[in-house]
Amino acid sequence: MKNIISSTDLGRKEIEEIFSLASSIKKGKKVKAIRDKVVALAFFEPSTRTFTSFDVAAKRLGLQTTGFRSEHETSVAKEETFADTIRMLSSYADCLVIRHKFDGAAKFASQITNRPIINAGDGKREHPTQSLIDLYTVLNSFGKIDGLRYGIVGDLKYGRAVHSLLSMLTTFKPRHVHLISPRQLEMPKGFLKGLNYPYGETERLESVIGDVDVLYATRIQKERFPDEIEYNKVKESYRIDRDIVSRMKDKAIILHPLPRVTEISRDVDATEKAKYFEQAGNGVPIRMALYSKILGG
Ligand code: CP
Repeated sequence: MKNIISSTDLGRKEIEEIFSLASSIKKGKKVKAIRDKVVALAFFEPSTRTFTSFDVAAKRLGLQTTGFRSEHETSVAKEETFADTIRMLSSYADCLVIRHKFDGAAKFASQITNRPIINAGDGKREHPTQSLIDLYTVLNSFGKIDGLRYGIVGDLKYGRAVHSLLSMLTTFKPRHVHLISPRQLEMPKGFLKGLNYPYGETERLESVIGDVDVLYATRIQKERFPDEIEYNKVKESYRIDRDIVSRMKDKAIILHPLPRVTEISRDVDATEKAKYFEQAGNGVPIRMALYSKILGG
């Protein structure tokens, strides 16, 4: 394993190995330290969870980190190009973790450098390490990923986490995937091509809520709308509250890549179905496992 640019870079066996290693780490098993290597965390776009968990995961393995959390902290603010920035980081670090607002930025970086590249979310297309965290959380809740009924609700047009998740699910065998969004934010047809499992599209969460095992909620991605008027039309399309929770199956769970705005009511946090903070916590063992596979030799 060298780069992780896209969800499709990982086969089922590799994903299961990552999950197995993450579980050993969670249980406290010591993993081989990776000393004398440096990871550059190149975050050209804001992040709380992804930046911090990649940073903590590196430090727990003995790796050193450098980097930045905003392009405004870098010479990009002085009009240096993305390509030159990647070249520079490649001469300082052994691996680059990249977040960027443009689709394809991580792939482009992989064409500039021979250093391993991990995509920490680029544009509206890909967030593959988030998908690993998502499915690992499903596995921990149900003991399986196959055979479940998934509901993905919210901004299916601009949300990169859902695009990567749909794609990574093709490696498994979901029973059904409900895609729930307002018409303006429905899943782009390009992402539906190649899905090898049953799915359906609806605007009405109420019509499918009793069917799902995993409800994956997402934020409406305000920063990707071309126009605030359009955002205001859809910004509060869905709100998962206690009433919605009461209509879910007993064992169903709620996931969210976070950050959330208003799409999950705060009082849902205390319910057993709310797994989104546990999901965020899984970021560290999953990313430790990834570093081990990529840099551990
Ligand atoms: N889930 C996720 O990518 O969160 P951040 O934007 O805070 O990294």
